[in-house]
Amino acid sequence: MKRIKTKDYVEMSKRACRKVIEAIERSDQPVLGLATGSTPEGLYDCLIEAYKKGHVHFGNVTTFNLDEYIGLSPDDENSYHYYMNEKFFKHVGLPTSQTNVPKGNTGDNKRACEDYEALIRDAGYVDLQILGIGENGHIAFNEPGTPFESRTQVVDLTESTKNANARFFDSIEDVPTKAITMGLKSIMESKEIVLLASGVKKADAMAKLIHGDVSEAFPASILRNHPNVTIIADEDALSKVRD
Ligand code: F6R
Repeated sequence: MKRIKTKDYVEMSKRACRKVIEAIERSDQPVLGLATGSTPEGLYDCLIEAYKKGHVHFGNVTTFNLDEYIGLSPDDENSYHYYMNEKFFKHVGLPTSQTNVPKGNTGDNKRACEDYEALIRDAGYVDLQILGIGENGHIAFNEPGTPFESRTQVVDLTESTKNANARFFDSIEDVPTKAITMGLKSIMESKEIVLLASGVKKADAMAKLIHGDVSEAFPASILRNHPNVTIIADEDALSKVRD
């Protein structure tokens, strides 16, 4: 895994923004894999700014998001679909037809998972996947213990993840208990992966990712088996990593 250490969150976001623009420029039909959460917000802001200045166009871009809560409709303010529309898609002219977020409210979750895998395959797989990391090492909603062979599936959220995400809801009781998530194997099929991390809260996870064992007990460790991963993380997130 390549590693880029940045001074702070702003620089992390700018470096990631440059990577995304390069990926878009490299391909006639670029396919981006996108994440939600706090970490990529600066990246989305930077891409919006670049778009407004005419430095990047999304006309031929297709996107796939990693995950969505089960039971929330796309226009629910807490859904990941809503997050993506508000924080990114609507600002860069990305029409719904070019964006994909797993569907957590169809009533047929098995079918929704299979359809999502098929959509990614038909798009020729993800060219550049953006990831965040959970404090427990989750990527997307693949919690510790998720098989490395997993594909898009419905999962129960752990207490740790529900607590971490409660900040977006009125109360912890409102946090959905299940999510639909791309699996670890599905993520590993991306041609290139950029994992972002910022802040001391991620320092233990980053130390484990870089120095620990490759094990299903720490899902992000699967990335060590991928040929093209770049970690872009700030000094705080890398504060427990040996150079
Ligand atoms: C979100 C996702 C999650 C987050 C992770 C970190 O689509 O897949 O795995 O990347 O929970 O979240 P933040 O960035 O809020 O610390």
